[in-house]
Amino acid sequence: MYEDRARNDRRAAPDNQGTIPFWQMTGTRPATLHRMDTITLTRPDDWHLHLRDGEVLQHVVPWSAERFARAIIMPNLVPPVTTTEAAAAYRERILAARPAGSGFQPLMTLYLTDNTAPTEIERAVASGIIHAVKLYPAGATTNSDSGVTDIERCHDTLEAMAEQGLNLCIHGEVTHADTDIFDREKRFLNEILGPLLERHPRLRVVLEHLTTAEAVDFVRNGPERLGATITPQHLLMNRNHLLAGGIRPHYYCLPILKRERDREALLEAATSGHPRYFLGTDSAPHARGDKESACGCAGIFTAPLAIELYAEAFAEAGALARLEGFASHHGADFYGLPRNTDTITLVRKPREIPALMPYGGQEIVPLRAGDSVDWTLA
Ligand code: DOR
Ligand code: ZN
Repeated sequence: MYEDRARNDRRAAPDNQGTIPFWQMTGTRPATLHRMDTITLTRPDDWHLHLRDGEVLQHVVPWSAERFARAIIMPNLVPPVTTTEAAAAYRERILAARPAGSGFQPLMTLYLTDNTAPTEIERAVASGIIHAVKLYPAGATTNSDSGVTDIERCHDTLEAMAEQGLNLCIHGEVTHADTDIFDREKRFLNEILGPLLERHPRLRVVLEHLTTAEAVDFVRNGPERLGATITPQHLLMNRNHLLAGGIRPHYYCLPILKRERDREALLEAATSGHPRYFLGTDSAPHARGDKESACGCAGIFTAPLAIELYAEAFAEAGALARLEGFASHHGADFYGLPRNTDTITLVRKPREIPALMPYGGQEIVPLRAGDSVDWTLA
């Protein structure tokens, strides 16, 4: 019954494309349009991805490698990836887990701590394999205990990043125990991010996984050097999906799903064609037992159906023609990397998602487990 309701919920917003070709509705023609139910786009990149480590890599990496050319790899391992040396070794383990013949490129990040030295930034840039540094406010989310306790301790390092053009990716939530979990992103914008952008006028920043209308506006009104990623779950679901009619641990992520008006603002931003919003799945695998628990982990595993979910969201908005910019162009442009040259094709044909998938010696429940996604990768 819950499955049925979830299915109806997510399909509640009509796909209003009717029989009008979608480029006539949005005013822009996609790169290649075969028919309304097939779309070919430049191969996308995932600008925010958790792959974990060890034996689960073989079960996680292939899903992203099948869809994306590159991905920004989050450093919140245990222990966190705080040095260029550790990132290089982790990169090798990811490369080794790729399917034969895959050209998938992991773009590595460093985990910012109170003690990250400016010299580590020099090493990172010189390595050529590190593309960003990740700021987790200490205690904000999974494996963030070694994160930054006070941004005042990081200014020299942030200035080194600004000088060398290394992007700062931010988990944008305040962490005070007395701040309501639904207000943590909003408060971060004015209390931390605004002053940070002012203090470092050349620092390039990606505000990760936007979840509120306020964050959408903050980015839109922000400087050119401020970009943002948006996840598929925040485009497709609101907090009712998580909490109404039963608590669904597999819809729990951080920042937490917000109100319907926030989801609508995110969908409008993602489908607007604005170049500073781009794709970042935040696919965050956790073993089934760690999710279905009295104290379940935050994170939604979307890698096996990620670009398909975005296609659903863009179709809902009647904006499939804008998917390519969001998924394949804007992020590469922001990171100063070349756009990909090959393509993928999505067909509007439902694909069943298994109820469980292997995860090392354990099992994992992906989003839409036992249900389906509207699009299939050709
Ligand atoms: O839901 C989340 N899961 N949010 C994060 O910020 C971290 C991630 C994880 O690593 O599981
Ligand atoms: Zn994340």
